[in-house]
Amino acid sequence: MSTSPTTDQVEQPPIHVQGLEKSFKQLKVLRGVDIDVARGSIFALLGSNGAGKTTVVKILSTLLKADAGTARVNGFDVAAQAARVRESISLTGQFAAVDEVLSGRENLVLVAKLRHLKAPGTIADDLLKRFSLTEAGTRRVATYSGGMRRRLDIAMSLIGEPPVIFLDEPTTGLDPEARIEVWQAVKELAKGGTTVLLTTQYLDEAEQLADRIAILHEGRIIVDGTLDELKRLLPPAEVEYVEKQPTLEDVFLTLVGAKTEKEQR
Ligand SMILES: Nc1ncnc2c1ncn2[C@@H]1O[C@H](COP(=O)(O)OP(=O)(O)OP(=O)(O)O)[C@@H](O)[C@H]1O
Ligand SMILES: [Mg+2]
Repeated sequence: MSTSPTTDQVEQPPIHVQGLEKSFKQLKVLRGVDIDVARGSIFALLGSNGAGKTTVVKILSTLLKADAGTARVNGFDVAAQAARVRESISLTGQFAAVDEVLSGRENLVLVAKLRHLKAPGTIADDLLKRFSLTEAGTRRVATYSGGMRRRLDIAMSLIGEPPVIFLDEPTTGLDPEARIEVWQAVKELAKGGTTVLLTTQYLDEAEQLADRIAILHEGRIIVDGTLDELKRLLPPAEVEYVEKQPTLEDVFLTLVGAKTEKEQR
């Protein structure tokens, strides 16, 4: 058996995943996934549609049970200590879970009250400020833009200050400006010591945000590293006059493409 959670929290990375497997009937989605995310860092999980990114996030947030492997979040085992894991995390899915009829501030106050926190008004005002929503705070959410809703949604998920947050495709469907606003909010979070695991389809999002990037392909993490490490996997482009660095998109397509070709043989 493991040692006490307190010891684990100090010693272990806040997200530690080893040999995670998950099938849906015949479909083997995860075939042994290993992930470690350091405290206060942003980890991006990339993969094509259906690669299993949401499945990983669901297992880590205790919404789904793995078939094999271990996953610990904030030092707690997702299977054996699900309640402790849930207390340690927040999960933001693709669709904002905000109440349209209420104002942004009222949404925040409501969640703070539901969590039995002291001074819900102060908590709401602090978060509005942090996410540049102070001016819009008293307006009904129905009048917010997509980017403002996403920011409010992320702000709501931070009430109670969870040490680990999961963002499943945080900027899907947002325009470039709104995406940059969300990116800024996520960067601020990590700066404050929150550990962030996000999934994304957007390679530029991973380039902009992530300290480490992993590509999930055919059930496994096929690469995991910093952007520079990933770029170094490809030989520098042959160029006549200017040396062109490979983009993350080049790396992604080469690795995913190469793997698929190899397996087709
Ligand atoms: N509850 C379920 N029952 C059956 N199959 C499922 C279930 N959940 C997911 N799947 C399948 O598992 C695979 C992985 O799904 P998942 O949602 O994790 O992918 P994803 O990487 O998040 O994809 P996307 O980029 O489209 O969000 C898909 O083939 C999906 O159809
Ligand atoms: Mg998904």
